[in-house]
Amino acid sequence: MNPALSQFGLQMSQLTGVRAIMKDIIETLRNSGGKEFINLSAGNPVILPEVEQLWRNCTQELLDSDEYGEVVCRYGSSQGYTPLIEAVIKDFNTRYDLELSDRNILITGGSQALYLYAANAFGGYTPSGELRQVVLPLSPDYTGYGGVSLTPEALVAYKPTLDLNEDKHRFKYRPDFSQLQINQQTGCVIFSRPCNPTGNVISDDEVNKIANLAASHDVPVLVDSAYAPPFPALNFTDMNPQFGDNIIHCMSLSKAGLPGERIGIAIGDRKLIEILESFQTNACIHSSRYGQAIAARAIASGKLADIAVNVIRPHYQRKIKVLEDTLDAAMPKDIPWYLHQGEGAIFGWLWLKDLPMTDWEFYQELKQVGVIAVPGSTFFPGLKEDWQHKQQCLRISLTATEAEIAEAMKRLAKVAKKVYQTLTV
Ligand SMILES: Cc1ncc(COP(=O)(O)O)c(C=O)c1O
Repeated sequence: MNPALSQFGLQMSQLTGVRAIMKDIIETLRNSGGKEFINLSAGNPVILPEVEQLWRNCTQELLDSDEYGEVVCRYGSSQGYTPLIEAVIKDFNTRYDLELSDRNILITGGSQALYLYAANAFGGYTPSGELRQVVLPLSPDYTGYGGVSLTPEALVAYKPTLDLNEDKHRFKYRPDFSQLQINQQTGCVIFSRPCNPTGNVISDDEVNKIANLAASHDVPVLVDSAYAPPFPALNFTDMNPQFGDNIIHCMSLSKAGLPGERIGIAIGDRKLIEILESFQTNACIHSSRYGQAIAARAIASGKLADIAVNVIRPHYQRKIKVLEDTLDAAMPKDIPWYLHQGEGAIFGWLWLKDLPMTDWEFYQELKQVGVIAVPGSTFFPGLKEDWQHKQQCLRISLTATEAEIAEAMKRLAKVAKKVYQTLTV
């Protein structure tokens, strides 16, 4: 069969960004002919024994309780499972001195779904035919935003400014407020903090500046906190979640060890939450109740927040250090390579300025030495303008072992040396 597809059908039947590259990576690994690869492409979190044990224990408690039948044998409310909503309210009200009620929380089937609901409820064409944009204030950002809008022309991203430390071979992106447009044409704003792919953490002040700009036009701001405290707490620098009338604080339990159960959590103004809740009812009714019930236990007991700070964060923090130290030791000093400040998330982000080939070609060179990392150009959804920088970056996952990361970075340094030599001969 070859059915004619609608505009939405065409849009949603395409894989965007990194998912398209993943196909090439899977084929490379499958057809490796016995060649061993160090795979630094994964976004799937490492299964840490303490984290797995926590989820196993919560599951056991659920199995042993009278609640079990009610949880898995019945439908529930689209807003979410009450004990999980209560656990989130209690945790956040105590931790951040808030006054959240149950109307401020929505549990979704993973946070990706939440961005799809928001991008299409607040962005896209209004009944009078005006286009409301989904604004990504700092590009690069999460590749998954590239697929969330049913009207792809709604997605607009802005180039950042760069803080450069040439001697240390480090850099950091910052939102460029001189360019950023948030106005009557804006439907909503989305950004990740800490950021996938760069590990950047936009400062508290910058978040508030964006939120204030948006508030003056009644525009919701979704702060994608998939890596933020209190769980999974994958920030390596101080940061405070910001709350406000137009801020939707969006969380995910995926990097806290539960990606298979699809739990996203939105915290925000009740009117915004109600809109997203209706969207979810129409899309899938609700998230897995089994996942929600074990999450309720892990959050209410305080164990998830503990494990995040004492196990999950140190695990990746050690690895970003290995990545930094190995690159500092192995990379030639005379080529303009810059590693993004490792402020959080589970990735390193390397910028190879003046790279004499594209990021895709460099990815192919790396494959020759048995290393797979993700070409950076897939992480600029919504950024239409030409910018060489887009073809000069690489995302390096911290999910491999420390030894693998060190070995891969040594090989990468050799490839970089060889590739840049072509510039001088
Ligand atoms: C920044 C960011 N946001 C959202 C998601 C989607 O997460 P979830 O599993 O909650 O849908 C990811 C997944 O990698 C991510 O990195």
